[in-house]
Amino acid sequence: SKSDFGVIGMGVMGKSLALNLADNGVNISIYNRYVEGKEEGVAAKVLEENPAYLTIQPFENISEFVASLSSPKSILLMIPAGKAVDLQIQELIPLLNEGDIIIDGGNSFYKDTIQRSELLKEKGILFVGTGVSGGEEGARRGPSIMPGGDKEGFSKIEGFLEKIAAKDFQGNPCVTYVGPGGSGHFVKMVHNSIEYGEMQAIAEVYSMMRNYLQLDPIKIASIFEKWMDSDLSSYLLEITIDILRKYENGEPLIDKILDQAAQKGTGGWSLNTALEYGVPYGVLGEAVMARNLSARKGLRMISSGLYDLERFPGIEDVDNFLDKLQAAYQATRIINHEVGFSLMLEVSEKNNWALNFSEIARIWTNGCIIRSKLMEELVEIFKESNHILLNYEAIIALKSYQGDLSYVVGQALQNGFAVPVLSNAINYLLGVTTANSPANLIQAQRDYFGAHTYRRNDKDADQAFHTNWKE
Ligand code: 6PG
Repeated sequence: SKSDFGVIGMGVMGKSLALNLADNGVNISIYNRYVEGKEEGVAAKVLEENPAYLTIQPFENISEFVASLSSPKSILLMIPAGKAVDLQIQELIPLLNEGDIIIDGGNSFYKDTIQRSELLKEKGILFVGTGVSGGEEGARRGPSIMPGGDKEGFSKIEGFLEKIAAKDFQGNPCVTYVGPGGSGHFVKMVHNSIEYGEMQAIAEVYSMMRNYLQLDPIKIASIFEKWMDSDLSSYLLEITIDILRKYENGEPLIDKILDQAAQKGTGGWSLNTALEYGVPYGVLGEAVMARNLSARKGLRMISSGLYDLERFPGIEDVDNFLDKLQAAYQATRIINHEVGFSLMLEVSEKNNWALNFSEIARIWTNGCIIRSKLMEELVEIFKESNHILLNYEAIIALKSYQGDLSYVVGQALQNGFAVPVLSNAINYLLGVTTANSPANLIQAQRDYFGAHTYRRNDKDADQAFHTNWKE
């Protein structure tokens, strides 16, 4: 008998989603390409490892795989972003009919998704570019799913996605039609950018506890555990506690891990997009830059010896500093989210995507990597306004944290510890709340050396002025 749904790519994510679909009663076919000596019998192996899944049909031949699906054929691609997706789509096109649906569930760049949608539209094939978050465990037990693109295509697969998605606190599936074109992948890209910011913020807070306060990982884990009882509760903080408690032969495993952070692109793409749209993105940009700097281990080792800068451990009241650090972290998290969502707002408005931020926050309350108590609060905040920054409670919170964030960043810098995301957060807060900035001087300088002209605040804003500055 024919399968209702097909999954291509039996890597970690593809396999986990396939088993999740099967667990939810969906008859599926799975396919993995054949590459001699490298990928042989991969789909069949999924069944060998999971012998209870009798209804799954494995394939290594693409035509047989497609022929095994009932019409309209729904095919989920879970393959590495980039060229592999184009090649797979090219291979599928002659095998598919009008009305069939291709879903790309990888971390594809959203502009590629827009192009692929256009190509497939000509062929009458429906294309749904879909963000999927939650890692292996999420994919297996319930991810957060961000589908965008062809709405008709989405409506045909909605039922499948709802079955496998995580559930929010009200029991609704963490999946929603995000918007047209590449908006599903765009939203996933920004999800990852916020993920980078949240991870780097935790790393900086950890660094201050470890290097400035000289606390050991077990103690730090217990502090984070207390924070988990507050509105700082999040998945990323929770896993950090487990990581810090992992010891090997009496030594923290964290100390054995090479300090070079890898990245697959989404954080940097978000920063590029922010530049393209003129969105102030320093705080999340710094999270990407921190990974880039971490990768330059050789340079860091050499200059560490050459400069031998002094790093002063904290000489202050530990509990008092921890309270301030907690507030600083709270503020940074709000700003990380504010900046990430403000990129989505700008791009949504420019492209008429009409993104619904309360819905996006809702599908991010479970299943995904940046799920948190704050995200649950954002569901409500975005019902009132698209700007976190303009929300009354956010204003009260940020006003109360401002002093502590400034203090922590000041202490970090004075005593020799880099905190790029925390620093940028306080700079953003101070900058965005400054009514009269020194950008007037920039405009004067531009006019001085390049006759670029300037506007005046005491004249009509459309009128350009030029001054002969040397006279
Ligand atoms: C998720 C993760 C997932 C993956 C990222 C990691 O939401 O499930 O974000 O997509 O872990 O690709 O990205 P980096 O490799 O760039 O850190």
